[in-house]
Amino acid sequence: MKAPIRVAVTGAAGQIGYAMIFRLASGEVFGPDQPVILHLIELPQALSALDGVHMELDDCAFPTLAGVVKQSSDDLEAGFADCNWVLCVGSVPRKAGMERGDLVRINGPIFTNTGKAIQAAASKDVRVLVVGNPCNTNCLITMANAPDIPRDRFFAMTRLDQNRAASQLAQKAGEPVSSVKNVAIWGNHSATQYPDFYHATINGKSANDVITDTDWLQKDFIETVQKRGAAVISARGASSAASAANAALDTVKSVIRPTAEGDCCSVAVCSDGSYGIDEGLIFGYPISSDGSKWEILKGWDNNEFAQEKIQATLQELRDERDAVKDLL
Ligand code: NAD
Ligand code: LMR
Repeated sequence: MKAPIRVAVTGAAGQIGYAMIFRLASGEVFGPDQPVILHLIELPQALSALDGVHMELDDCAFPTLAGVVKQSSDDLEAGFADCNWVLCVGSVPRKAGMERGDLVRINGPIFTNTGKAIQAAASKDVRVLVVGNPCNTNCLITMANAPDIPRDRFFAMTRLDQNRAASQLAQKAGEPVSSVKNVAIWGNHSATQYPDFYHATINGKSANDVITDTDWLQKDFIETVQKRGAAVISARGASSAASAANAALDTVKSVIRPTAEGDCCSVAVCSDGSYGIDEGLIFGYPISSDGSKWEILKGWDNNEFAQEKIQATLQELRDERDAVKDLL
């Protein structure tokens, strides 16, 4: 067994937290030889529910769970102390009729203290994944409040959109989802995101050639992925949880494990100016990892249709950035 790593989850007693923590403890993400100490962080009023989650963790008797630290969000530095990963879930989900961006002034302020506490207390190698919405801009706020931490350590979650897009393409093509690769989500985790079917492949062939219904690709496919979160809220009465937790774990795995040839991982990262995006924005890109370092995949040719979509989502992220200027 290796030395334990520490993984913090904020909002640990919430829907996504509950769907995520047991899988983090089980060895699925970091490996069967990698003990994990979970730091579970919650609002003071949710600490009693968190005690119940802790009991259930004990009752799983996971060999890879090396400890549990429960912490009130009143003292985030204690919560993030020496953590190697911080998964920022704790925040308010949207309700039916809202866009995710409507949450920016509600949830945004949470992430100033989050950034400051991560910088003050987390391990030097910390990596941060923001799930709480609007996740790109909340990640921007976190990063801005932790200026000493290298920018390549900050991620916001567009993996759920990637997984949704892969499923839609597979179903339309009548092929297994495992045949779909290289699905990029450009921009914001919002209704302006651009799920890229031009570079996606199905059994190694361009999805755009396999699915000949261009109208479906350009309209129905894109809209289904853009509005899938709202569709889940409308059907379930609550926002996606199991699929969101799954996507968060997929993101971590994709960063710490090498990316397969011909594939990519979609995640929002700090723009280095690639593809004409403002430097410093947290923008969804296709990336690949060698298991320790990751990079934005460069040189993809985006046609006029794609460029227009990318500009729209870029503009929305600029507007969100302007709306939280005081928090940056
Ligand atoms: P939830 O309400 O079930 O759980 C959130 C938990 O966070 C609650 O237990 C609450 O007590 C806690 N919390 C609130 N503020 C906190 C703070 N400041 N510090 C610590 N904990 C805090 O919500 P959920 O369904 O788990 O969703 C959480 C967030 O994830 C929402 O913002 C939701 O919109 C977002 N989300 C993002 C994606 C994505 O793809 N990026 C997908 C699904 C949900
Ligand atoms: C999702 O995509 O399911 C989440 O971001 C929740 C939401 O508000 O749509």
